Amino acid sequence: MQTMIEFQHVKKAYGEKTVLKDFSLTVEKGEFVTIVGSSGCGKTTALKLVNGLLAPDGGEILVYGESIRRKDQTQLRRNIGYAIQGSVLFPHMTVEQNISYVPNLLNKKDRKKTKEAVAKWMKIVGLDDDLRERFPSELSGGQQQRVGIARALAASPEILLMDEPFGAVDEITRGQLQTEIRRIHSQTGITVLFVTHDISEAMKLGTRVLVMDKGEIEQYASPEELLRHPATDFVRKLTAQQRHVCRLPDERLEECEYSGVNMEE
Ligand SMILES: Nc1ncnc2c1ncn2[C@@H]1O[C@H](COP(=O)(O)OP(=O)(O)O)[C@@H](O)[C@H]1O
Ligand SMILES: [Mg+2]
Repeated sequence: MQTMIEFQHVKKAYGEKTVLKDFSLTVEKGEFVTIVGSSGCGKTTALKLVNGLLAPDGGEILVYGESIRRKDQTQLRRNIGYAIQGSVLFPHMTVEQNISYVPNLLNKKDRKKTKEAVAKWMKIVGLDDDLRERFPSELSGGQQQRVGIARALAASPEILLMDEPFGAVDEITRGQLQTEIRRIHSQTGITVLFVTHDISEAMKLGTRVLVMDKGEIEQYASPEELLRHPATDFVRKLTAQQRHVCRLPDERLEECEYSGVNMEE
């Protein structure tokens, strides 16, 4: 396996407030890592450090084994898709223009190639082709979210960062989008870092789940492992709330039950 992203003893503070103290994490190529934890624990901060939207105050972040400090920032961001909650689409641009924004920057002359790419990504995220000419305000929340994902994927990045991307849509749409993103991940082999505050979502989507509390890593393990061997009280409480649909190593989804075998109470 090849390491795709590595945090080495990363420190990040906002003024006096330290959010990440000594944050170390390794993500292998092709993994789907879900980052789960309560509001304000530092999830978004961790994500933004990967594409250079934030700079660490200490430690290193490596992508493909190279410190991102030494990388060209524009280049770095083009290779890292970023999708966040709600509509972040350009309101004055159509669906097609939104999705083709970065591909157009990349291959200015090849409009045909861009058109094909738009068609391909619309299909992959499950958008009907007749939505091409619509503006964001003429789409449902779920459709807007799909366009956002297609736009993040359109430059064929090797890494996709997603920050609570399905937080603003209804339950049914969320379920559909979860299914789509799992499929996209298995089809493209893209490395995904997915932030959520919803433990069920984390268990269903992640090949590995990172549980955070107050800027610290509580546990970093497969969904099954999290249920079978919760490393801390925090993880035990988080996972014990309900039965979980877990993503298994062979891509199946299975309802797994918390057993808490190494915990006594
Ligand atoms: N730009 C900022 N300036 C000051 N404090 C910030 C800033 N961004 C985030 N914070 C604080 O840092 C902590 C972690 O924020 P964040 O990473 O956004 O958490 P999460 O995404 O887990 O909810 C929170 O307490 C938040 O209020
Ligand atoms: Mg956040």
